[in-house]
Amino acid sequence: MGTLTNKRILLGVTGGIAAYKSADTVRRLREAGAEVRVVMTAGAAEFITALTLQAVSGHPVHQQLLDTGAEAGMGHIELARWADAVLVAPASANFMARLAQGRADDLLSAVCLATESPVAVAPAMNQQMWSNAATQANLATLKKNSIGIFGPAEGSQACGEVGPGRMLEPTELVALVSDLFASGELDGLTVVVTAGPTWEAVDPVRGLTNRSSGKMGYAVAEAAVEAGARVILISGPTSLPDPERAHTIRVESAQEMHDAVHAHIADADIFIGVAAVADYRPTQIAKDKIKKTQEKMTLDLERTPDILASVAALKPAPFTVGFAAETENLEQHARQKLATKNLDIVAANRVGADLGFGTDENSLLLVEPAAVTELPMQPKARLARALIAHVAARYRAKHSAKVHTLRRP
Ligand code: CTP
Repeated sequence: MGTLTNKRILLGVTGGIAAYKSADTVRRLREAGAEVRVVMTAGAAEFITALTLQAVSGHPVHQQLLDTGAEAGMGHIELARWADAVLVAPASANFMARLAQGRADDLLSAVCLATESPVAVAPAMNQQMWSNAATQANLATLKKNSIGIFGPAEGSQACGEVGPGRMLEPTELVALVSDLFASGELDGLTVVVTAGPTWEAVDPVRGLTNRSSGKMGYAVAEAAVEAGARVILISGPTSLPDPERAHTIRVESAQEMHDAVHAHIADADIFIGVAAVADYRPTQIAKDKIKKTQEKMTLDLERTPDILASVAALKPAPFTVGFAAETENLEQHARQKLATKNLDIVAANRVGADLGFGTDENSLLLVEPAAVTELPMQPKARLARALIAHVAARYRAKHSAKVHTLRRP
């Protein structure tokens, strides 16, 4: 998996000769794992065709603000909500001026104004235009408004001059976009995450399992990596590739997952149990394949170890987060788990027809002893980032509270 796996990047292309590099930028963003949609200004269309950018992004290019067809499909508000980050590359002097003014009279500027996600620009222009006091004043405004400024580089320009104003190369832009997601909230901490289902063997070819896809646990592991943590992901059987930069350990049964967790938990500052661990397993695993000789058969089951509860019972215990999949009475059931297992947070989600397992979207209710926080329905990758931000804040609060208590005379 790349550094932008599951990220939705909206690439804005404005009018400038560097627009010819946009096709390569799209390609590099996609290689890094991102899903890319492109918005072009009218000026950009003079330098590169929508057809080219549609072909490399795999999606129709968005160009019009007030187009009935476009607004019925993905209009400026939907695009603004869709994007995890907006990169405008190349960003012309004119576009920077419009963004600094908060204009919304074309699609790209309207999307930049309407999004809650980070916005960054990669300026590209003649060096005199870049150095001009008006552009520099706009630049200062954009910085003040928390717009990321990527570049520009110095060097020879298309107009024959030499100086600052060249757009950064697509590979440099991709690295900087990846950095937008690196919050540093978990810098220096170790996080152990469990994910996926478990497989409890009945005989050599059959077993008990569940419909967990592992998507949420993997997204949590990736979000923790992005936040700066060293991450150990202990996963039951899934079809997902190992997340990049996490140490992934593959296991099958609840017992193996338990043992792998306890082999690594001593180093962990935070434990997040996302796995859908089987609660019961066959008391005996048949050595050979069971033959259908009897009309009826009964499987004798016994409880599996409760991994989450065993971690929360450690002394000292890491900051412990459990998941609860419920079909009804979400908060009440979550609160029970919080108390009986002695957890810091229970992240509860509704499951049922079309909800939870296997889907790409979910919502969570974060239940804590003195608070309840709702994270609304959104793609699992984004939901995982919101969860990690919440966990990081609570971890820091608990930690500094402890330091405080210790320091008190
Ligand atoms: N969990 C675990 N080990 C188990 C079972 C569950 O670590 N053997 C963890 C899961 O990873 C999840 C949480 O516990 O974080 C789920 O709690 P659990 O009580 O198992 O949920 P349910 O099985 O849904 O509970 P119940 O059927 O008792 O409501």
